[in-house]
Amino acid sequence: MLQRQRLLTPGPTPIPADVRLAMAGDMIHHRKPAFKEAMHTLRGQLQTLFGAGLPVLPLSCSGTGAMTAAVFCLFAPGETVLVAEAGAFGKRWREIAESRGLKVVSLSADWGQAIEPGAVEKILDEQPDIRGVFVQLSETSTGVLHPVEEIARCTRQRNLLLVVDGISAVGLSPCPMDAWGIDCLITGSQKGLMCPPGLALIALSQRAWEKAATVPDGCYYFNLVKERENLENNQTHFTSPVSLILGLKASLDRILSQGLDAVYRKQWALTMMARTGIQILGLQAFAPTRYTWGLTSVSLPAGVDGVELLRHMERDYGVIMAGGQGQLKGRIVRIGHMGWVDWADLAAGLHALAEALRACNGYTASRDYLENSLAAYRAALAGPPGVEPDLPGVGI
Ligand SMILES: Cc1ncc(COP(=O)(O)O)c(C=O)c1O
Repeated sequence: MLQRQRLLTPGPTPIPADVRLAMAGDMIHHRKPAFKEAMHTLRGQLQTLFGAGLPVLPLSCSGTGAMTAAVFCLFAPGETVLVAEAGAFGKRWREIAESRGLKVVSLSADWGQAIEPGAVEKILDEQPDIRGVFVQLSETSTGVLHPVEEIARCTRQRNLLLVVDGISAVGLSPCPMDAWGIDCLITGSQKGLMCPPGLALIALSQRAWEKAATVPDGCYYFNLVKERENLENNQTHFTSPVSLILGLKASLDRILSQGLDAVYRKQWALTMMARTGIQILGLQAFAPTRYTWGLTSVSLPAGVDGVELLRHMERDYGVIMAGGQGQLKGRIVRIGHMGWVDWADLAAGLHALAEALRACNGYTASRDYLENSLAAYRAALAGPPGVEPDLPGVGI
């Protein structure tokens, strides 16, 4: 009999016991010393996580709230921006920008492909009125990692703002904000940070703060200047999401005691394990080359009903994965391996996928997927993150 469910979705993700316990204590008041002390520690931890010299502001909202705050605080209605749109969350950047009255130039790529930095550069050269670029580091709907470091070189050279949604990347793969030259970086609590949903984080560069000072207020709730002033006193502008803040601090105690490099290495190894497993199962990775380190998207063979497959995995194996969004509904499965997920969880996930495929349409998988995927995990853990291990006979 199964004793627990395994949440292998790309957010929310499982929450470690120390984080849950940190949120379960008696309530404390958000303007009193105990809270301010926790917030003071958290401020330093967040700057380390983001690789940011300037403050990282906690906002009580989901990730989309921080996306909204970035758009409304950094750009005035009528300004032109470029949106990299290669999935559901790129589309969300466009929709939020349009809701602020920005003129949006879209750069699309097929879902499953990464945006080309050369294409960004070409548009920026052709359209000198563009004031900023919006992109995801990890496009969660497809499992693609966009080349943000290269795009940052283009925006820095032209003195434009680069706004990055790192919601499914921060804490999972490297994204050093200052070193790469990102002007605004966002994440949410419910993915690599192993907390419940409901808390978002946003940081601005000096250039972005200077730009924000010139933009008329667009939104009463999201006022980053006021949030920054409050944070200097270890508080938030409105009532703080106290429990989430305490949980996040516990989660960052855990992440930073392991070290970011070790965390990224584990994420990379899990990615190699997932990609090897599906390859041996005879399935195709939906993101062929530039892929996210926190999830693996898998194209389903013709004739497999993705919705039924997910139902089967949950009912018979206690494994919960995500399906496709938008145009990918029913066509892909997304295996989340973010945060507090280990190789044993992923092995259970690969097994559930193999068995559910067999039950759903008689698809018979080669049996050595577990052995090979674990070999890939071990090899990736021993090698440099970001470099695919060389396993004879196993193409990742
Ligand atoms: C890349 C990305 N952007 C934005 C969002 C939206 O975040 P939320 O659902 O927390 O508002 C998500 C959530 O899955 C995401 O993965």
